[in-house]
Amino acid sequence: MNREILVEAEGLKKTFDGLLAVDGINFKIFKGESFGFLGPNGAGKTTTMKMINGVSPPTAGNLTIAGMDVCGNGREIKSMIGVAPQEDNLDPDFTVFQNLTVYARYFNIPKEAAKKRAEQLLRFVQLEEKRDVIITYLSAGMKRRLIIARALLNEPQILILDEPTTGLDPQARHLIWNKIRSLQKEGVTVILTTHYMDEAAQLCDRIIIMDHGKIIEEGKPMDLVRKHAGEEVLELVYSEEVMKLLKQTFRNARMEVVGDKIHVFTSHPRGAFSKMLKAASFRGAVIRDANLEDVFLKLTGRRLRE
Ligand SMILES: Nc1ncnc2c1ncn2[C@@H]1O[C@H](COP(=O)(O)OP(=O)(O)OP(=O)(O)O)[C@@H](O)[C@H]1O
Ligand SMILES: [Mg+2]
Repeated sequence: MNREILVEAEGLKKTFDGLLAVDGINFKIFKGESFGFLGPNGAGKTTTMKMINGVSPPTAGNLTIAGMDVCGNGREIKSMIGVAPQEDNLDPDFTVFQNLTVYARYFNIPKEAAKKRAEQLLRFVQLEEKRDVIITYLSAGMKRRLIIARALLNEPQILILDEPTTGLDPQARHLIWNKIRSLQKEGVTVILTTHYMDEAAQLCDRIIIMDHGKIIEEGKPMDLVRKHAGEEVLELVYSEEVMKLLKQTFRNARMEVVGDKIHVFTSHPRGAFSKMLKAASFRGAVIRDANLEDVFLKLTGRRLRE
């Protein structure tokens, strides 16, 4: 299948006063796919999103959207893209409804059409009751929902969501996930950052993991899980004896102490741990599926980012 490239970056760089926030990255995003940028705080995800949506010009490298250079094609590119930025940039003095209708002017959406769409989007994010309330009086999660609604006003072909569900309650998170899935079915290309690994695994066809401005891994979520964390993970309550016994039983397995637990990874197929558990008795042993969080922690380490 010949897939159309919608976003392409080559040697993309961004520096801020000597700080290399994005350090020469290459990626391709295909039309209709859902693409995730993952990485610790400060990895360069938001900086990359801002370059894609044209609010922050690259310092070096090439970045094209639908074949157009991001520099010099601002108007064409903006009409294709819907953006939910990480930070709240709603107008605090306007009401919920006005925030949508004023934003619609930016895309030259006719007044009546803009009102109709604003009403629909308020229904979708379940903010109809807050229609005439000014932004200052919304809760954090309500603002987040409004920002997502606003990103959809111009019926974008490309939707950029920078941490769309941070701060949302579980109901709102599922509502947003369902909407993203229905947009995916309509062929919208979704570019998303998230710190929720389950969100990335569920919504993204492909992901990139960034750290210190560089891409350290790329692929389909499940392929990366198989590659870096195997099929299953054994979790046990930590003690020195357990550790000793594990080292004897699984000579080459990677082990990690996480809080009061030991995580054991194996490249053996499913079932290896249950055989081992039958042979020896371990207190509180749990076998679970390997997941994207295992991959993320393996590749980016456990130290907090300053
Ligand atoms: N406008 C700016 N001026 C100076 N430095 C900046 C600016 N924007 C970002 N940075 C720096 O660039 C680096 C990357 O920041 P960025 O916001 O892209 O990270 P991120 O991956 O989105 O992190 P998070 O998960 O915390 O949102 C950080 O070191 C940050 O301090
Ligand atoms: Mg960010």
